[in-house]
Amino acid sequence: MQVIKYVFQPHGDERGQLVALEEGIDIPFSIKRVYYMYDTVKGMVRGKHAHKSLEQILVCIHGSCKILLDDGREKKVIPLEKPYEGLYVPNNMWREMYDFSEDAVLMVLASDFYKENDYIRDYDQFVSYINICNSRR
Ligand code: TYD
Repeated sequence: MQVIKYVFQPHGDERGQLVALEEGIDIPFSIKRVYYMYDTVKGMVRGKHAHKSLEQILVCIHGSCKILLDDGREKKVIPLEKPYEGLYVPNNMWREMYDFSEDAVLMVLASDFYKENDYIRDYDQFVSYINICNSRR
């Protein structure tokens, strides 16, 4: 599995840091939606789903968390600990977000609006879906 973690360029000066994200330049898709999670309860696991079409970039803009990516064959855990790092999560990828620090704010840039019918929320269904997609290739 190829993991794409972007390192964004902070514009730092004596006042502090600033990161700007522009679609087509820093982000490889049109950004249709931004959402973020905070006050995540200790020990809680979020996500636990895949998307049929949606692409996302996850940025832990404060604090830290871990992301489990699973393409149905391989699993990888990617820590997000810096506000200038962005993890690309393609479609057809199971993801779980966990180990949130108390102060964590996880921002998600998404390529589409919220569409419940794009979600696969059952792991066995995800594996079957991936196998069908792969057999059609
Ligand atoms: P949910 O999909 O359960 O979050 P997680 O990524 O942890 O699986 O979303 C939590 C709630 O927020 C759920 O009621 C749906 C709603 N929601 C929106 O209304 N818009 C969105 O863009 C997202 C991601 C969730």
